[in-house]
Order: sequence, then structure tokens, then C-alpha cells
Amino acid sequence: MANNCVIGLQWGDEGKGKIVDALASAHDIVVRYCGGANAGHSVTVGPERFALHLIPSGILFEQVLCVIGTGVALDLEVLTAEIDALQARGVKVDQNLKISDRAHLVLPYHKLEDELAEQSSSGPTKLGTTKRGIGPCYSDRASRRMGIRFGQVYQPDSFREKLGQIVEQKNKIFQALYANQGLDADQIFQSVQKLAQRLRPHVVDSTALLNDALEQGRSILFEGAQGCLLDLDHGTYPYVTSSNCSALGAPAGAGVSFRALDNVIGVLKAYCTRVGEGPFPSELHDSTAEYIRERGHEYGTTTGRPRRCGWFDAVAGRYACRINAVDSLAIMLLDVLSGLDEINIVTAYRYKGRQLESFPADSEVLAQVEPVCETLPGWAEEIDHCRSISELPANAQKYLARIEQLLSRPVKIVSVGPDREATIYI
Ligand code: GDP
Ligand code: IMO
Ligand code: MG
Repeated sequence: MANNCVIGLQWGDEGKGKIVDALASAHDIVVRYCGGANAGHSVTVGPERFALHLIPSGILFEQVLCVIGTGVALDLEVLTAEIDALQARGVKVDQNLKISDRAHLVLPYHKLEDELAEQSSSGPTKLGTTKRGIGPCYSDRASRRMGIRFGQVYQPDSFREKLGQIVEQKNKIFQALYANQGLDADQIFQSVQKLAQRLRPHVVDSTALLNDALEQGRSILFEGAQGCLLDLDHGTYPYVTSSNCSALGAPAGAGVSFRALDNVIGVLKAYCTRVGEGPFPSELHDSTAEYIRERGHEYGTTTGRPRRCGWFDAVAGRYACRINAVDSLAIMLLDVLSGLDEINIVTAYRYKGRQLESFPADSEVLAQVEPVCETLPGWAEEIDHCRSISELPANAQKYLARIEQLLSRPVKIVSVGPDREATIYI
């Protein structure tokens, strides 16, 4: 099997978890390389639904090694709760989960900072984050003085000393900016030590592990979190997350060469959603948005927030295909569109009277573009039972063909329901 990368091409929640689960058992290893507990990846198998935040979506297969890579913002509390919840449901999480000793820790002061900054922001500085401490953790990593890697907690003396200095500084900031008294370093230390002891058997040098695996010809599935349009550099900045969550971040976040990626599978909903602030040219504010939100259960897996809904945006899709060097497409949640008389696709943007040829870099421009839509006929039938393209209504087939044409990429997977089985492979 080739080394595949599953990547969201929109603003997250495209259904990456379902696709990773579907492809995992054909690989030896699944690695998460970016983001943290801001992600929520759903996997549905019969009556069972799993929401994974940090653990790779290959975990339901005992023989697949799941690796949390160096680029992940690691929240030990969320991780241990996730392990407990999976084990309580009979899922084996043991030697099949490895965690990078280079991953940076999300500590309680990161979550507090995220929360306080969001609360006190408005207008252009409000981002609508998941409040999982992601931005503050990656900022500390980049600043270097304040970052703590997972491996460091196993040197308790130096960890305690560094933590003390950091918490002292953070508390001054919390007090000055937010009149918040801050946190207690000892309490954090004790709690982290406890969690770290428990997780010790899982800790590895994941860079060495993955490079050894590649040299031995074992196959890796790279599991993206978030989506290309939330990428720190290539998304709709500043309304993005704080990591390179496009495929460009996969080599760095996993610690392997870009040459290791043989094939990139771009995952897109058959429409668009977005959670949090930021421009969204194809957004709908009418009864169609409600229809999509209710049929697609478009409420955040991590925060429960209602997702903003809109039409499929081929301009953003083309951009994302280029950035990620996408080889093939997985079109998700096609079943949600059943029952609509007409379906629109955004094929171009108009800005100040002229047509834009490409996806604008400036979010202020993107917020002002006027979407140019093409209207296709819808289909009435429910399609969740379909297991081949030819079983789909003719208009659903035409809709997929038009997406292929507009994005110049073949559709290789179509998803018609949350369940593992509700999948068409082409
Ligand atoms: P991820 O973050 O990309 O893994 O996506 P999420 O799990 O956050 O959101 C996708 C949602 O759509 C989840 O609730 C999935 O169970 C659900 N889902 C995935 N594929 C389909 C599909 O084809 N049809 C329907 N109706 N739901 C789907
Ligand atoms: P998965 O992996 C959807 C969004 C947040 C917010 C912005 C910044 O499930 O697709 P952050 O907490 O990262 O600082 O928030 O990014 N966001 C996501 N939206 N799916 C995700 O992950 C997301 N992770 C972050 O809503 O707009
Ligand atoms: Mg999600």
C-alpha cells in the first residue's frame, strides 16, 4: 500500500475521520501530525459512534499502529479521558498507540489564555476558537522560552523549574490583562506528573519510529486535522488555526520527508460548512441552510456549536487542490442534499465588478466577494443505501461529475451516510 494522506479541503469537519477509518486497515500506521483537541473526528460503525480528538482514527483496528506525531498540540487530560472512554467501550488502546516525545503540551494556562482572550475580543480580533488552548500552545512553541515538550516532563526537576517560571509570567499577564488571579504551578505539576506516569509506555521518538517504518517498506496513512482553509499560512488568515494543517504540514508534523507522501486524498463535503468567525463566500442564511444543518447534523463534534452552512465552493476547492497537490477526491455527505429542487455550486467570485481568477489571499477581500453560482437540478430520493455510482439518481451523478470537472480531479470515494458501510468506492 502507498503512503496516503487524508486532508480536509474546506474549513474542517469534512468527514476525515470516516475516511481515515475506512482506509486505516490497509495501512500499517496512522499518524496525526497537526492540531490538537480542537479536532473532532467521528467514526460510525453500526450503532456505535466514536468522537476522536487526539487519538488517530485508525484506533478501531488493533493491528494498526496509531501515532500522535511531533506536530500535535498534546493535551494530556483530554488524551487520557479519550483512552479511558475507548477502553470502556472495549477498544484496545495499548501498544497500538504511540505518542511523540517532541509533541508540545497544552497546559491549563493555555486553555485559560484561549478562553480569556476570546471572551475579551470583539470585531477583527475575535476568532471563535474552540478554546482548547491551541493558539497559546503553538505560540509558546514558536517563542521557545515558554514551550514544553512531552519528553521534558520525564525530567521532573528541570520541568518543575521551567513550569514555575512560566506560570509566574503567565499569571502576571492574566492579572494585568484580564484581572484574573491565574493558576498554581504546583497543582499543574502534580497533575501532569500523574498523567505522564500513566502514559509513559506510549511515549516514543516518533520521528525515528516513522522513518524506520518507511525504510522497512511499511505503509503510513497521514491523518490531517482541520482543513486547508484553516491552515495558518494558506488558509483564510487570521481566521485560521495555529498549525499547518494542509498536506504541506504533514512531513514537518510527522517528522518524515515530503517524498514519503505518495498520494493525497482531498476530503470535501458536497456543500460547505464553517465553525467560528471568518469569511465564507458561499454561506447561506435561509431555509436551505437550516435544511442542510438539520439533515447533516451540522453541530460541532468538539464544541457543539451550530456550523454555518453554504453551497459547494469550487473556487476554494480548486485552490485547496493545488496547495495540497490532491490526487483524488472523497465527496462526503452527499445524502444530505437529497430533497433539494436545485443545488448551487460557486464557480467564480466577483469583486468590485470584476471576476477574480483565483482564491484571494486577503480575508477582507474574501469577505466582500460576490459568489457566482451555477445551478444544477437536485434529486428527491434518499441515497444512503446506494453502494455504487450507478445506483445514484442521475442528477446526483451529474452533480459529482461537475465537481470532478471544476476541480480537475477524479472522485474516488463518495459517502452517503455516516456509517463505515455507507461508502461508494470508484
Ligand atoms: P472530521 O472532523 O473531518 O472528521 O468530520 P466530523 O466528524 O467533525 O464531521 C463530519 C460529520 O458528518 C460526522 O458527524 C460524521 O459522522 C458525519 N458524516 C460523515 N460522512 C457522512 C455522510 O456521508 N453522510 C452523513 N449524513 N453524515 C456523514
Ligand atoms: P476537525 O479536525 C472545524 C476552527 C475553529 C475556529 C478556528 C480556530 O474536526 O476538522 P482553534 O481552536 O484551532 O484556535 O480555532 O478553527 N477549527 C475547526 N473547525 N473542524 C476542526 O477540526 C477545527 N479545528 C479548529 O472553529 O474557527
Ligand atoms: Mg471535526
